Amino acid sequence: MNAVVVYESHWGNTAAIAHAVAEGLGPEARTLTTDEASSASLANVDLIVVGAPVIGFSLASNKMRDDMAKGSSKAPSPPDLSHPSMRSWLQGLPPGHGRSAAFETRIWWSPRGATGDIERGLRNAGYVPVTKAAKFVVEGSYGPLRDGELERARQWGTELKASVAASDTAILS
Ligand SMILES: Cc1cc2nc3c(=O)[nH]c(=O)nc-3n(C[C@H](O)[C@H](O)[C@H](O)COP(=O)(O)O)c2cc1C
Repeated sequence: MNAVVVYESHWGNTAAIAHAVAEGLGPEARTLTTDEASSASLANVDLIVVGAPVIGFSLASNKMRDDMAKGSSKAPSPPDLSHPSMRSWLQGLPPGHGRSAAFETRIWWSPRGATGDIERGLRNAGYVPVTKAAKFVVEGSYGPLRDGELERARQWGTELKASVAASDTAILS
């Protein structure tokens, strides 16, 4: 299966989940930042998994990214803003035919979130969701991930692979 996991991550929590999901999907799955996930890299993907942190109750806006760039005394390190935002990447996503799944990282409770916008962008490009969006939890505003979340992400990746295989079998039979 040609599977990719595309992510936005400013402090590494979502990147770590993205790599764990890819591990669950299997050795051929690729983990890509938004600039690595070009049209050429996405050609003929069977499954595209997309994840981002919840920032200000949704996907990070340009305004939130500008504010983060100014720095905060509470942040453990400067944010990684070197890749295009997930919002802009979704807007430019070329049409595709594969299945899709969305995930977000977040504090344990928050209104709204990031996966609604991710799923809308994927659907608009023609990618059909294969499962319900997943949420992975951090301990504080900048992380770290709650214990057990990497294992849960690996398991979710394994389940995604099985869901795609099951829906392929259903189409063929
Ligand atoms: C400026 C800022 C705003 C945030 N807003 C929210 C929020 O609205 N809801 C939430 O659940 N978590 C929020 N968080 C927590 C992040 O979603 C969480 O730390 C995430 O895992 C960061 O992922 P990253 O390390 O991949 O960038 C916020 C964090 C920061 C720094």
